Amino acid sequence: MLYFPMSKYQSVRGTRDLLPELKQTFRLIDETAYKTAKTYGFKEIETPIFEFSDVFHRSLGETSDAVSKETYTFTDRGGDSITLRPEGTAGVVRSFISEGLAQHVPLKLYYYGPMFRYERPQKGRYRQFYQFGVEVLGLESALADVECLDLAWSILKNLKLSERCVHEINTLGDVDSRNAYRAALVNYLAPFKSQLSADSQVRFEKNPMRILDSKDEGDKKIVAGAPLMENYLNDTSKKFFSDVLAGLEKLKIPYKINSKLVRGLDYYCHTVFEFTTSELGAQSAILSGGRYDGLTEMLGGPKTAGVGWAAGVDRLADLCGNQIQAASEPPISVIALGEKALAEAVQIAGCLRSRGIYSEVFLTGNFKKKLEKANKLGTKKAILIFEQENGSFELKLKNFETGEEKVITPDDIGLLK
Ligand code: HAM
Repeated sequence: MLYFPMSKYQSVRGTRDLLPELKQTFRLIDETAYKTAKTYGFKEIETPIFEFSDVFHRSLGETSDAVSKETYTFTDRGGDSITLRPEGTAGVVRSFISEGLAQHVPLKLYYYGPMFRYERPQKGRYRQFYQFGVEVLGLESALADVECLDLAWSILKNLKLSERCVHEINTLGDVDSRNAYRAALVNYLAPFKSQLSADSQVRFEKNPMRILDSKDEGDKKIVAGAPLMENYLNDTSKKFFSDVLAGLEKLKIPYKINSKLVRGLDYYCHTVFEFTTSELGAQSAILSGGRYDGLTEMLGGPKTAGVGWAAGVDRLADLCGNQIQAASEPPISVIALGEKALAEAVQIAGCLRSRGIYSEVFLTGNFKKKLEKANKLGTKKAILIFEQENGSFELKLKNFETGEEKVITPDDIGLLK
């Protein structure tokens, strides 16, 4: 294949072309996820790829990496500040409010699409990447968290990936528990403040709990001795978490409690979770989420409970490799000898396609080349078309497995499968 590596037009750093083979894997992952979600009663929603910047600033939090360093934000020609969505939850909740969906709760929504974050590109981390995700709105029960996790687990099982990942879970508690914990954490970290990484010194002022999941080695050592969230949970928060864990046990969904798991986005409360794999290097999270009961109010809507998660399709595709493939039907190939026969071939292929049958016509190459191409596509049956001296056409059905050829009439084509 010819390509021009020195062309000045490359795809933008952190973006990539999903060439047919990879795109096929993405599509199969989305289809598997959506099909599974439908069995749980989820309905698909699609929100715009860009929103007013405030939608993300308010929901994800000014100190989240996604907002403070990673957004693609621009002023449009009308002077509005617009941001390409870095994730799907904020847009779904904005839609929930602006479309007046509160009257339809509980809602179980599924989405798929591209997200944009200006992160440092590396294996498994892109600036345009794809997520499918689910959001459940209007259910306060811990069983909604369990149902979401059950769906995540079923999808991973259907993709044959459940054995290759670990499910980590934690609770951030309710607002009171979190405030009590935050105070204890600040108290503990204060003497170490000057030794924290530059990022964590900023977090210390604005959102100290985020220091818990810092990747900096120095921060990690300091954090190792930090007080544990579980000791600051009030009874309501403890009960909520134990109900979630009991639900998981009943459904035999494995989990590991990670008390340092806090997640990077500000909207979470109670349950947070992540499915990780050791097979993708540093970008180990493949599916993550949690509960966000305060988010609708943060965006000016009615108080509504929320829980959900999103999965990174790019990472799932890397893990799946060739392991999921479409059950691809070979085509019925239509192979013509001569110009006039070719026009006939296009018509015959059209008849088959109108009945939903995959059919290939080869527009170029001599007869032998066309047979070779058909063979390469795995053709089992082909219709061969020969122009006769009197201007009519002879049709033959060729069985590629036995090599047998038999003359057929146009009526026989209508019976082919
Ligand atoms: P998140 O953890 O930021 O959560 O992203 C979810 C998943 O998207 C990650 O686990 C990862 O697989 C994938 N991902 C994130 N950034 C990248 C990237 N740069 N390149 C490739 N994959 C990436 C959320 O987005 C929340 N909205 C999830 C949620 C839904 N919580 C509640 N509801």
